[in-house]
Amino acid sequence: MDGTGEARNRREHRKDKTTSTNSADRRLDTIASTRTASNMTKPRKTAKPTGSAADFIPPRPTIARLRAASKGCQGCDLFKVGTQTVFGEGPSTAHVMVVGEQPGDMEDRAGKPFVGPSGKLLDRAFDGAGIDRDDVYVTNAVKHFKWAKDARTKRRIHKTPNAGEIRACFPWLQQEIALIQPRVIVCLGATAAKALLGRTFSVMKSRGKPIESELAPAVFATVHPSSVLRAPPDERVRAEKMFMADVRAVGRYLVKAAPERTAQRARKFSGWSTIAHPSAISSASTPSSHE
Ligand code: URA
Ligand code: SF4
Repeated sequence: MDGTGEARNRREHRKDKTTSTNSADRRLDTIASTRTASNMTKPRKTAKPTGSAADFIPPRPTIARLRAASKGCQGCDLFKVGTQTVFGEGPSTAHVMVVGEQPGDMEDRAGKPFVGPSGKLLDRAFDGAGIDRDDVYVTNAVKHFKWAKDARTKRRIHKTPNAGEIRACFPWLQQEIALIQPRVIVCLGATAAKALLGRTFSVMKSRGKPIESELAPAVFATVHPSSVLRAPPDERVRAEKMFMADVRAVGRYLVKAAPERTAQRARKFSGWSTIAHPSAISSASTPSSHE
């Protein structure tokens, strides 16, 4: 891939990002370096939240270091509610970053994002869009499961995170974006979209279209897969079709933005020897049971 337009573009994109986040990084480094090793261990449930995940960002962060440090996060009250921090997962070379709302019941138990029914639907959507699952990093706007016990069934019912919790957790997501440098970010549902695109952003008005943003060459938004799974029977088929179509738009964008990568994949799968294209360029909720 080195030497191609794709690689060049990616490097330049990284360079821009590095420059633009330098002062923030330095600030975070300073904060983080004042913390002690005891902050990295699982916090006591009685501890008082600090108000921001920024207080837990390690110096010289890598995804592995961030994941380890996030286990001790007490940036907001949710560390007392969820079983464990559910950090993002996927290769650090991923071109696509998917941002959900918060881990669900199964993710909270497993400690991994999108392992439940929403994740299964997401996998099908990627398949249908020709997006390689190995090219996707999945994460959430909020990294602890917020829930309340249903009085009747005793089941843990998902509760939508509030603006303060989303704000407190944002530094983790910011760091993930800065390190992964995805070509495309896909926001699933209003929580992720508002966290990344602003409070006035409307998923319904702008779904399935590339949105210009400083976060990545393109940001897409669509509904949360759990809203598809919860749709009433007469709307379910249509809701799923629309969700699939939104994810296909991401697939098309990726092909358009990096044709040589698609050629590489074609070579990998067919065994044909094709010549890499030398001129490859790139432009660039309601409270419910979120599974
Ligand atoms: N829903 C989300 O938003 N994130 C997960 O990780 C699982 C379900
Ligand atoms: Fe930290 Fe985010 Fe968990 Fe709050 S939800 S404790 S900010 S990881």
